Amino acid sequence: MPLIIGVPRETFAGETRVATVPEVVQKLIKQGYQIVVESGAGNLSNISDDEYRAAGAEVLGSAAEVWSKADIVFKLRGPDATEVGLLKTGGTLVSYIWPAQNPELMQQLAAKKATVLAMDSVPRISRAQKMDALSSQANIAGYRAVIEAANAFGRFFTGQITAAGKVPPAKVFVVGAGVAGLAAIGTAANLGAVVRANDTRKEVADQIISMGGEFVTVDYEEDGAGTGGYAKVMSEGFQKAQRDTYAQQAKEVDIIITTALIPGKPAPKLITADMVKSMKPGSVIVDLAAEQGGNCELTVPGEVTVQHGVTIIGYKDLPTRLAKTASTLYSTNLFRLSEDLIKTNSVEPAADTGAAAIHMNMEDEVVRGTVVIDQGNVTWPPPAPKLSAAPAAAPKAAPAPAAHGHGPSTTVSSPARVATMFIIAAILFGLIGYGAPTAFLGHLTVFVLGCFIGYMVVWNVTPALHTPLMSVTNAISSIIVIGALVQVAPPLADGITRPEMLIKVLAAVAIALTAINMFGGFAVTRRMLEMFRKN
Ligand code: NAI
Repeated sequence: MPLIIGVPRETFAGETRVATVPEVVQKLIKQGYQIVVESGAGNLSNISDDEYRAAGAEVLGSAAEVWSKADIVFKLRGPDATEVGLLKTGGTLVSYIWPAQNPELMQQLAAKKATVLAMDSVPRISRAQKMDALSSQANIAGYRAVIEAANAFGRFFTGQITAAGKVPPAKVFVVGAGVAGLAAIGTAANLGAVVRANDTRKEVADQIISMGGEFVTVDYEEDGAGTGGYAKVMSEGFQKAQRDTYAQQAKEVDIIITTALIPGKPAPKLITADMVKSMKPGSVIVDLAAEQGGNCELTVPGEVTVQHGVTIIGYKDLPTRLAKTASTLYSTNLFRLSEDLIKTNSVEPAADTGAAAIHMNMEDEVVRGTVVIDQGNVTWPPPAPKLSAAPAAAPKAAPAPAAHGHGPSTTVSSPARVATMFIIAAILFGLIGYGAPTAFLGHLTVFVLGCFIGYMVVWNVTPALHTPLMSVTNAISSIIVIGALVQVAPPLADGITRPEMLIKVLAAVAIALTAINMFGGFAVTRRMLEMFRKN
């Protein structure tokens, strides 16, 4: 019996999204699932019942039918009390849960012996990126924030010089350059605005620049990177310096988009009432942190208000304003999750009354993080992730060398150590130069220079840029291939000494390794280019 996935209509007021779209229904059926959808579930995302039927789903008249038939329920918003009542005893639910904020809901679901996968708890590690609904929805929120700002702003974003006069470009300041912030920077820059951004995590400076923004620095030495790629609460001193920087920006820019969040904490108040007062009349603030209380002191969550001549948009539902795209991306996240569940977990056939029991492989880091209740046992919070999304903090500079000569003081950067290494290297080179044949010296020079250039172009480059560097290594590999081909070539009738068997074997190995590098590199480069292709 195939497992049945049920997709009920979202009941939360104002929710326009649906957890599964017809394209994903088709893919899930190919994976071996059977799909039941509540009639009208896709209406607000412009998806009709007929489209679901055409994709192979069975459309049922009521939510009760869907919940009672489904082994696994796919939802967006966490269930309300009625929906918890409808869930089969021992059933599986996949939706947003926010376990820290909803202890009661967790208890109700545990009492139902349910297995619950929380889409808000998917670990933020590279392998789980394809299932990361927080990112897919934050990306939409960032885009939509700019569109809302443009709608409320009385000017062009791009600067123009026309016969009728000169229009300066809009200046946009983005606070917080996480997923939503970066999407906002990219969208505003594409519309032609001058974009600046700030974040407490210094590692995002390069990402801001690559999206077309300018990184605004706060004149205070402190990095905001916390655990798991998220930010931490900053010191009083930093907050004061940050307020000064933001006050200056508020005076200069036309639009502020705030996205700053710290997990499990109310949104930091970064835009004060005085800053709002100092903005030019007609300016716009879009506060994406409105749901967590807002980054701006004057934000009214869920509302649009005009205060001191500034429009402050506090919508809490930006992704729902792009319902079809949001539904499609969310359901793709669910599809990727179901692919992983098939690979990593085993299913016990349904008992006559209950739902099929899916045994979650809690050894798998992604499953462990996402499963918040396993057959009635609360498994949240998971242990800390082994790998952080953010690069590890750089080690602090080592203290001066200690007299006893061990411990952290013996670092590579110690001047005495560097000097010793140089002296040893100079003596070695001197000896080689004295004893080695001239041809060998030529090769050695090329080799040492090669190592130096290799070090400069690979190790000296930000890790984020290592993948594009593959194309450079391709070129280098091609040169190796030419050398290796010459070595394995059949003898020529010119009397030159032929390479020995060992050299031929080494050359053949070099060709094989180089071929992997070349073709692998081209494949990776192609996949990267595909990501930027518009259709
Ligand atoms: P978020 O929504 O929790 O926070 C948004 C941004 O606000 C963050 O960049 C944070 O540093 C910033 N912020 C917090 N307090 C601030 C303050 N006082 N002043 C200024 N800025 C402040 O973060 P989001 O967008 O959910 O993701 C954060 C990071 O997590 C990403 O940039 C990325 O490094 C990592 N991530 C990794 C993923 C993966 O590998 N699967 C997926 C998504 C995110």
